Amino acid sequence: MNIKKGVVGKVYHCPIKGEFEFISNGLITIDQQGKICDVLHPSDPNYSKTLNFLKEKDSLQELTEQQFLLPGMVDLHIHAPQWPQAGKGLDLPLNEWLDHYTFPLEHKFSDLSFAEQYYPHLVKTYLANGTTTATYFATIDTSSSLYLAETCIKYGQRALVGKVSMDDKEMCPNYYVEESAEHSIQEAERFITSFSQLANNNNLVEPIITPRFIPTCSLEALKGLGDLAKKYQCAVQTHASESDWARDFSQEKYNKTDIEIYNEAGLLGERTILAHSIFLTDSDIDTIKQKGSGIAHCPRSNIYFANAALPLREYLDQDIQLGLGSDIAGGPFPSLFMACSDAVLHSRARECGTNASLPAEIRGQKNSRVSLLEAYWMATTGGGQLLKLPVGQFKKGYCFDALVIDDEDSNLLICPDLDSPQDILEKIITHTTRNNIRQVWVDGNQVK
Ligand code: GUN
Ligand code: FE
Repeated sequence: MNIKKGVVGKVYHCPIKGEFEFISNGLITIDQQGKICDVLHPSDPNYSKTLNFLKEKDSLQELTEQQFLLPGMVDLHIHAPQWPQAGKGLDLPLNEWLDHYTFPLEHKFSDLSFAEQYYPHLVKTYLANGTTTATYFATIDTSSSLYLAETCIKYGQRALVGKVSMDDKEMCPNYYVEESAEHSIQEAERFITSFSQLANNNNLVEPIITPRFIPTCSLEALKGLGDLAKKYQCAVQTHASESDWARDFSQEKYNKTDIEIYNEAGLLGERTILAHSIFLTDSDIDTIKQKGSGIAHCPRSNIYFANAALPLREYLDQDIQLGLGSDIAGGPFPSLFMACSDAVLHSRARECGTNASLPAEIRGQKNSRVSLLEAYWMATTGGGQLLKLPVGQFKKGYCFDALVIDDEDSNLLICPDLDSPQDILEKIITHTTRNNIRQVWVDGNQVK
């Protein structure tokens, strides 16, 4: 047997949208490379033999009655340099918030010693909160963006890391802009090719092409980045149709939607993450589906900045690829557990509406709520599927990216006499913070 170790205990995961699987004495076996060899139920013929084999080798971790094993969280949208900003200015409109707080802060990361103060804290914080796969925007500075990738490797977090591209002189602040489209494309390519020199990577960290959003990028830069995506088979991330302001900008300047512009630049592929995507047209949705791209829903940030709610119910029902993003610092919380609750809240506000002076029948969007299990599926399986990575669920051949959760010294209270397996999972999703995450593994390596 190629099995290196095993974990046995109460296992939860959500391979199917809106459903959950609970295995009360699940045995997960892991190989030398940190991949899952098998997920065994007590009724499987190999179960006892495998359990005894691991016990004899002293390679079995037995979870306690109070502990639960869950897949690690897959966060599709994080602005790493905005971590020191988290919690500031969330009462401003998006463009004022960016100009006043974000761009001056991101600019400071061109100084590597500044980046060294904050990136390790961020990566450790996300891991402690259960995020085993993180998708990061860094800044326009190539060196410190590479340092973020090294930091993920050092602390053992699976990550897609993007050097941000922004070259539009009119829209970007003069202190935080790339000198030309040509330079922007060159630096993006240098960033991508530098990954082959990162020490001890073992495929844990990969580059992702990252045009910030339409207002900050020239069409020439977008087109060059689209060519790089094809040349290097790279993932892509950006913001799409986030707010009234962003949507109107594209219409007024180009008479096109964001999705039309990205598509023409060759930026929509099977591993393209479109953050937000609030104001999509029917034709945009067709294009996204046809290209196999996906949406990173950032429910908390959208409440602050998007001016409207995402039609998540409809997108889930149309089988658009969907995952969740915490969107530091548009959302201030470094936790996808929080984002699950926020996604439900977001959909409930949309369903009920908000204007109490209107009659209930016309106040909201009927039947648009989503369930906590659907949100949790997005935070795990959905995110993994969108990234085309074998993560987010317990399945033979998938990476062993996992969390052990219990209810000691925390806000979580499990009541065995009162709670069904679904109740327990819903309480875990709602109440988990770093305080009740006891262990975190990425690729079979314990990182917390
Ligand atoms: N649009 C362009 N940049 C940003 C950013 O940093 N945060 C959010 N929420 N939206 C953006
Ligand atoms: Fe963002």
